[in-house]
Amino acid sequence: MNTSDERIARGQRKIDWAVSRMDLLNMLRDEFRNERPFAGHRIGMSIHLEAKTACLAILLRDGGAEVFITGSNPLSTQDDIALALAGEAGISVHARHGVSEDEYVEHLREVLAAKPDLILDDGGDLVRLLHEGDTEGVIGGCEETTTGVDRLRRLDREDLLRFPMFAVNDAKMKYLFDNRYGTGQSVWDGIIRSTNLLVAGKEVLVVGYGWCGRGIAMRAQGLGARVSVCEIDPVKAVEAVMDGFTVAPLVEAIGTADLLITVTGCCDVVTKEALRNANDGLILSNAGHFDVEIDKPALEELAVSTRTVREGICEFTFDDGRRVYLLGDGRLVNLVLADGHPVEIMDISFALQALTLRHIAASGKLSPALYAVPTEVDQRVAWMKLTALGIEIDSLTKAQQAYLGLAP
Ligand SMILES: NC(=O)c1ccc[n+]([C@@H]2O[C@H](COP(=O)([O-])OP(=O)(O)OC[C@H]3O[C@@H](n4cnc5c(N)ncnc54)[C@H](O)[C@@H]3O)[C@@H](O)[C@H]2O)c1
Repeated sequence: MNTSDERIARGQRKIDWAVSRMDLLNMLRDEFRNERPFAGHRIGMSIHLEAKTACLAILLRDGGAEVFITGSNPLSTQDDIALALAGEAGISVHARHGVSEDEYVEHLREVLAAKPDLILDDGGDLVRLLHEGDTEGVIGGCEETTTGVDRLRRLDREDLLRFPMFAVNDAKMKYLFDNRYGTGQSVWDGIIRSTNLLVAGKEVLVVGYGWCGRGIAMRAQGLGARVSVCEIDPVKAVEAVMDGFTVAPLVEAIGTADLLITVTGCCDVVTKEALRNANDGLILSNAGHFDVEIDKPALEELAVSTRTVREGICEFTFDDGRRVYLLGDGRLVNLVLADGHPVEIMDISFALQALTLRHIAASGKLSPALYAVPTEVDQRVAWMKLTALGIEIDSLTKAQQAYLGLAP
C-alpha cells in the first residue's frame, strides 16, 4: 500500500468506527434510502471535516443529495477523512488541513460554485460568502453553532437575510448535549492529549459560563481541578457561584491560573493587560468558534522569545522570565488537537441537522428569516435517543392531561 492508500484506509477505519456508534444516523439511513428526501437537491456543507461529519455527508447522499463539502476552520480538517470521503460517489470534497485564510475562502467558493440549494453551515462563513453573491435557488439551510446563530440573528435583525436559515444550535437536543457534554469532554480530550499533563490539583479558569463553559467547568471539577469562572453576565456569574466555583475578573484570576479556557464567542477576551498578569506556566486555550478570544498579537508583543515545545504547543517567554503556553494557535482546542466531540454527541446533533434539512426540503419556499428547529424534530430526536439507549419513560394518563389542562 502506498502512503496515500494508507491514509485513505486509516480515514475509512475512523469513519467505520464512528458509524458503528451513530445509532440515530443508522436509524435514519433506511428511512432516507427509501424516501430519498434530497433527490434532485445539492447540499453545500461547511463544517469541521472529521469522521462524524463524513457519516452525515454519506447519510445525506444516501437520502438522494449531491453533497459538496468543505471545512469550517483551517486547522480542523483531517486529511485522511477528506481523502476517504472523496472516494464516495456523489460527494465532492474541497478541504485540506492547514490551509491559508485565502485557500480556506477559495474552498468555500468552490462549494458555492456547485450552486447548492440546501446549506449546512458551522460558524456562518459559508452563508456570509453566499450573501456576497447570488442566492437565487437557495431553499434554505441550517446553522450548527452558537457563533453562527449569533451572526444570522444580526443579519435577520437588519433584514439582510436572503433565505431561510434554521438555528440548529438552539434546539434543546443540541445545546443541552453538544455544547455542554460534548464540549465539556472534548476540550479536556484536546488539552490532555496535547499536553500529557495532570488536571487534578490545577487551577482551571473557564472564561464564559454559557452552555459550553458549564460543561468544561463541570468536567474540570470531576478531574480534580480547582475551578474559577469569569463572566460578564450577572445571572451566569451567580449560577457559577452556586455551582461551587470561584468567580472573579479575568485580570485578577489569570494571576493564579494554571490552565485557562476561553469559550465566550466574543472577541478580545484575554487582553494584553490580562496577559501581563499571567501566572508563570499558564496554559492558554480556546474553545470558542473563532480564534479572536485570546489576543495573539499581544502575546507576540509581550514575548522576548517564542518556540514550539511540543506539537500544537507554543511557548512565549516574557522579559521577566515568565512563560505562557498557547495550545492549537488559539483555535478550537478540541477540534485542532483532538477529534472534536464524542461520536454519540455528534450522532444527536447530526440527526437534528438531517431531519431539519429534510423539513426545509419538504417545506418548499419559506420566507427569508431565522427559524427555530420545529419542536416535532427536537422531540423526535429525543425519542430516537431513548430508543437507542433502550430506555422507556412514563406518559401522562388522560386524567393527568385534563388536570394539567393539556389537549388529549
Ligand atoms: N469547541 C466546540 O466544539 C464548540 C461547540 C459548541 C459551541 N462552540 C462555540 O463556543 C462559543 C460559546 O458557545 P456557548 O453555546 O457556550 O454560548 P453561550 O452564549 O451559551 O455562552 C457564552 C457565554 O460567554 C459569556 N461571555 C460573553 N462575552 C464574554 C466576555 N468578554 N468575558 C466573559 N464572558 C463572556 C456570555 O455571558 C455567555 O454566558 C461560541 O463561539 C460557540 O460557537 C464551540
